Amino acid sequence: MATTTEFVPPRSGRIDKKYNRVPGKKGNFEMVAWLFMRISGLFLVVLIFGHLITNLLVGDGINGLDFGFVAGKWADPLWQFWDLAMLWLAMLHGTNGVRTIINDYADKDRTRFWLKMVLYFATVVIVVLGTLVIFTFDPCIPGSPLEVCN
Ligand code: HEM
Repeated sequence: MATTTEFVPPRSGRIDKKYNRVPGKKGNFEMVAWLFMRISGLFLVVLIFGHLITNLLVGDGINGLDFGFVAGKWADPLWQFWDLAMLWLAMLHGTNGVRTIINDYADKDRTRFWLKMVLYFATVVIVVLGTLVIFTFDPCIPGSPLEVCN
């Protein structure tokens, strides 16, 4: 006998009214967020595979990864902006994905609110720190193993 599996959406029947489609309602943030996940996903495929190929496949591969390798890459603005785009897109994509999961699964308004506050706070800290590291990285710190610094 054939069996069918019915899809039951998370929190079905209990979804906050603000997520309902109301005819004539202005504002399309959720649609833009949905589209952003698809477009950022496409860019992430290119960025992540480019990152993996240059870091792990060409040259000495994984054995060539050290402080000097990173210093060399970040001396080139192309890789600075590549890593910046990867950081920003992965963080915004991941944060928006987790925001969706929180909205879907956290029942109480206060729980949803605080989980999202923690999420946004962590995102801002990581994006700001990561951006600063990429653009303020100095390979010639005291004790640097690089010959060009000595
Ligand atoms: C390799 C490139 C990637 C592609 C093509 C991709 C694609 C997608 C797409 C299309 C969705 C939406 C799924 C849906 O709405 O049902 C999604 C959701 C999500 N992505 Fe990605 N993604 C990528 C990388 C990442 C990375 C690097 C992270 C983490 C930083 C991440 C975290 C998430 C999360 C948390 C969700 C939400 C999952 C859910 O709703 O159940 N993704 N991804």
